[in-house]
Amino acid sequence: MRRTIVAGNWKMNASKESVNKLILGILSGMSEVSSEVVVCAPFPYLSQVEALITHSQVKLGAQNLNANPAGAFTGEVSANMIKDFGARYVIVGHSERRSLYRETSSLVAEKVKAALDNDLTPLLCVGESLEQREAGETETVVAEQINAVIELVGIGAFRNIIIAYEPVWAIGTGKTASPEQAQAVHLFIRSLLGESNESIAQGTPILYGGSMNAGNANELISCADIDGGLIGGAALKAEDFLQICKAG
Ligand code: PGA
Repeated sequence: MRRTIVAGNWKMNASKESVNKLILGILSGMSEVSSEVVVCAPFPYLSQVEALITHSQVKLGAQNLNANPAGAFTGEVSANMIKDFGARYVIVGHSERRSLYRETSSLVAEKVKAALDNDLTPLLCVGESLEQREAGETETVVAEQINAVIELVGIGAFRNIIIAYEPVWAIGTGKTASPEQAQAVHLFIRSLLGESNESIAQGTPILYGGSMNAGNANELISCADIDGGLIGGAALKAEDFLQICKAG
């Protein structure tokens, strides 16, 4: 039985005040939540969240990392620094980073490796654009994104990787993939992993992301191969986020 994971991706939305309110709100409802809950905060707030979630079931993640261990990389943040603030997860290869910051699949693979080398669990994001979906390229795109990681770190490393399928056309658009559309791609991803190792394929959590909210989470998460969600907009309101966590 795979565990259910719900992760919040706050993106570039936070202030000391809003973080306080959001975390306290989430903590107040955690007794009714059985899924694994992760909040991925912007770097400057990791320390604040670390302190707020002490002794709770809520886990901390970052949203990006640099693949290098240390050195002259002005403005960048390493895996070790993230770990230093109590984070155990890191989002890697989010479509906003792939498109706005030109992160290639090989760079994403390097970042996954750096995370794993430092005992951080990567939340590896994959997904196709609307154009690619309409051209029938969904599986080719997702396979290329995942194969780049398998090639660098090996299939065995997927014991410690969480995949998030996030169709780019569904992110922040209010246009969710239907449970059938999402399930089909999740099953494809699992079969792709299964070509290298069936037991790893069965054990790897695959989350759905893209306009998941309190209203549609149940239906999505109850699909056979959807093991939770990576939540953007709806993760910024404690009540909505908790509702999704309870769906798991
Ligand atoms: P969204 O974002 O839930 O706001 O669509 C999801 C994500 O980008 O991870």
